[in-house]
Amino acid sequence: MKMTGADLPWRITHYASVDSTNTMLKAMAADGEPEGRVLIADRQTAGRGRMTRSFFTPPGCGLYMSILFRPDLPAADALMLTPAAAVAVADAVESVLGIELGIKWVNDLFCDGRKVCGILTESAFSADGRLTYAVVGIGLNVRAPADGFPAELSSIAGALLPADAPDCRPQLATEILRRCAAFVSALPQVPFLPAYRSRSVLVDREVLLNPGGDRVKVLGIDDACRLVVQDGDGVSRALSSGECSVVL
Ligand code: BTN
Repeated sequence: MKMTGADLPWRITHYASVDSTNTMLKAMAADGEPEGRVLIADRQTAGRGRMTRSFFTPPGCGLYMSILFRPDLPAADALMLTPAAAVAVADAVESVLGIELGIKWVNDLFCDGRKVCGILTESAFSADGRLTYAVVGIGLNVRAPADGFPAELSSIAGALLPADAPDCRPQLATEILRRCAAFVSALPQVPFLPAYRSRSVLVDREVLLNPGGDRVKVLGIDDACRLVVQDGDGVSRALSSGECSVVL
């Protein structure tokens, strides 16, 4: 994959096929790899998502990329890496393709009601609770698989473009990395938070929480990027992790 934007400070390696770019980069990070290392694969044989799920990553379709960051941050601020990456992806897609994406807290991006991107951030912390590294893994479904998505994903997953579209993954990677660099270097400031909020697809919706199964209404996203929800008794709380599904 040919990247443009020679000004980028990254060390990028492209692979035709790996098990998982996150798994590989985590091993490199644990061995002392400096930040700025990026692994991109055309295909993964064991792509991973959150909550031990697999992530479908067929050849030629998606941008499957992991980025190593080592900002000196306490754990609470490190939680902002995933939202930063989500806005970086959404802004990059809009600038390269003119396609507007919604963000489903905390790590999913949607286009026309279908998930087109997931982000898996895997971090390690020192004994005093500071971040030692974060591997931010981005799986963006750029072109639809020629044979479609597997049956179990066909009602959920989508792609930005049809299967025969020209390959724009290099431009997308360049734009995502450029934006991620700016957002991560700004931490603990969160200049991306207004965009995260305005792209949110959950605000004012009824959702089911996972874990727990509670049915709640989403009131908004607070300054720590927590999901603020209100239960049926009118009691509100802020969630810093978890998932939810929209009640239709
Ligand atoms: C999710 O939807 O739960 C997150 C999916 C993250 C997938 C990306 S693809 C590149 C990187 N390598 C992986 O194994 N996972 C992430």
